[in-house]
Amino acid sequence: MTGPYTSSPKAVYIKTYGCQMNVYDSARMADVLAPHGYRVVDDARDADLIILNTCHIREKAAEKVYSELGRLRRQRDRDGGRRRGAGHRPLVAVAGCVAQAEGAEISRRAPFVDIIVGPQAYHRLPDLIADAVRAGTGAVDTEFPAEPKFDQLPEALATTAPGSAFVTVQEGCDKFCAFCVVPYTRGAEYSRPLADVVDEVRRYVALGACEISLLGQNVNAYHGAGPDGQPRSLAQLIAAVAAVPGVSRIRYTTSHPVDMDDALIDLHGHEPKLMPFLHLPVQSGSDTVLAAMNRHYTADDYRRIVDRVRAARPDLALATDLIVGFPGESDADFRATLRLVADCRFAQAYSFKFSPRSGTPAAAAPQVAEAVKDERLAELQSLLDRCRQSFNEACVGRELPVLFDRPGRRAGQLAGRSPYMQAVFAEAETSALGAIAAVRITAAGPNSLAGRLIDGPSA
Ligand code: SAH
Ligand code: SF4
Ligand code: F3S
Repeated sequence: MTGPYTSSPKAVYIKTYGCQMNVYDSARMADVLAPHGYRVVDDARDADLIILNTCHIREKAAEKVYSELGRLRRQRDRDGGRRRGAGHRPLVAVAGCVAQAEGAEISRRAPFVDIIVGPQAYHRLPDLIADAVRAGTGAVDTEFPAEPKFDQLPEALATTAPGSAFVTVQEGCDKFCAFCVVPYTRGAEYSRPLADVVDEVRRYVALGACEISLLGQNVNAYHGAGPDGQPRSLAQLIAAVAAVPGVSRIRYTTSHPVDMDDALIDLHGHEPKLMPFLHLPVQSGSDTVLAAMNRHYTADDYRRIVDRVRAARPDLALATDLIVGFPGESDADFRATLRLVADCRFAQAYSFKFSPRSGTPAAAAPQVAEAVKDERLAELQSLLDRCRQSFNEACVGRELPVLFDRPGRRAGQLAGRSPYMQAVFAEAETSALGAIAAVRITAAGPNSLAGRLIDGPSA
């Protein structure tokens, strides 16, 4: 392929915020730009193009973008781009969910931003760059929906990490939880056709991946078309991915409790490539709060789902997301959340203070006091820490297959992930990067495990 920039190789720096789908999108932006002469660099000062791929989920996440933009502007005013010397001005693009949700606000607060591109329009980056260069400034594209983007993305050029690749299979959300911006930033639910996903998986395997993580805002609502045009479920998609030679680990994230169907639960019992890990956000343990959140399940519905998945796969590591201080949350509601956490014994959890997001129904309701939110979050997190620690300690003495995907903290050490998504550190040769090896776990900390390699890499 040729593009306007092939004659002069340029440098792009991409900073990613938010969820794994943004990690996938950032990698795909690099794929889109590569045929136009852009290579990825890891220092913004070397870049001709700086892309901030942003997250809008909580206020803090969105504000990070404006402080990063402020930093970039000061840096540019001070020393220009290092690559071209003083006076060089890299193009600045804001992509992702903040771009989608508040493009006009970005132009107002950071007028030097050249390109604003939403999550469904980044396949058009080369055109937007050309527009921005031609006009001097200000190319905006926040078009919907997801469909055309996937059709126009080029073949992937690299795995997400050594041995591991993310593949977005479902995007957008129709659920409209009362607190959440995703249906507004990512648009309506869309599932990619099964054959497209399988082709992309084959491509990543050829690039060295043995672990595939299927991504979606509601990945278990997947209903992509099969070869006959009829919809396929996530369980069917996972079975198709498991049949691709070279795939040895499959993960999926994030799931919604109402879409945990029987076939998917059963699959945890009989598909050995499906990892014993489930990220199933519950948000609250109070039925009153769950109803106000528009979640469509009760705390006991959630407990029953967990029991069924554990019956299928007894060693399952369960992960979740929780919100404290949702409008109207009483002390009794919060106690119900603590009870649910104690019952479910989460191996991992993300917990957040409710953050009112403009345009969502919960933002307009009377708010819980900040100090109360702080107290609840601290109490919840100390319980979650104990759950995680005891899950990790139960792994000591076991032999676990670890996929090494990055250098460790010390020389001679690599870090990887267990089937349960724990970080595992062990002494290993760099040649083991991207491979799965058996590790005897010798110690457990709150955030990671340490172990000893039992034999050489096997994948
Ligand atoms: N689709 C997933 C979650 C997507 S957002 C699901 O249905 O659960 C990731 C997490 O961010 C959510 O699970 C929720 O816990 C948190 N979150 C979303 N909006 C929030 C808000 N306004 N304030 C605090 N946390 C929020
Ligand atoms: Fe947001 Fe709810 Fe959709 Fe998850 S299911 S992305 S929390 S609206
Ligand atoms: Fe954030 Fe958008 Fe993901 S709001 S969590 S980057 S879908």
